[in-house]
Amino acid sequence: MAILSLGRTDFGNPVNTGNTLSEEETLGILNEWVPNERLRLHMLQVGAVMKAWALEQEDLPPDEAQKWWVAGVLHDADWEKYPDSHCRMIIEELEKREIDPAIIRTIACHGPRYFGVEPETSMEKMIYVFDELSGFIHAAALIRPTRYEGMDVKSVMKKLKTPSFAAQVDRTDIEDALSRIGTPLEEIISFIIEKQKDVKI
Ligand SMILES: [Fe+2]
Repeated sequence: MAILSLGRTDFGNPVNTGNTLSEEETLGILNEWVPNERLRLHMLQVGAVMKAWALEQEDLPPDEAQKWWVAGVLHDADWEKYPDSHCRMIIEELEKREIDPAIIRTIACHGPRYFGVEPETSMEKMIYVFDELSGFIHAAALIRPTRYEGMDVKSVMKKLKTPSFAAQVDRTDIEDALSRIGTPLEEIISFIIEKQKDVKI
């Protein structure tokens, strides 16, 4: 991927704090911007994992968890149609819609090496942790005859140590993301398997 540095680290307008998108509006953008079903599923999976983490691990109320879900579901919204402006287009769209800056900045944080925005808040750190790992775990599930059923953490750990498996997933990004939080990799993998296994398009 080309370096897509956004050239800024502040997003949205603080007066819009608290403005989120409804489920319908979020899925409307997803379906309009992302024709590729596999990518749509990835985004819905990241959204589901983000929301579950907010509710269960951060003890946040539903309206806060909704922000985590929106950021997760829309983080790759412009990847398919605008690969050269990935992240920039969806950020500008959400700024135009006057959405909470916390949601916009979280989307901008899902690839610090590419977008040049360092995760600071817990929501920002977790999208970075979940993004690559969620995709990796789904790739691992797809090659199993029973998919997610019976899938264990150990087998995912083994695949992470096999560079030829899902080679496009950068292991150093996963390590970097994990180094910013206090939860061990095994726990994160287990959480992702549990929360994304039943997500359907
Ligand atoms: Fe992603």
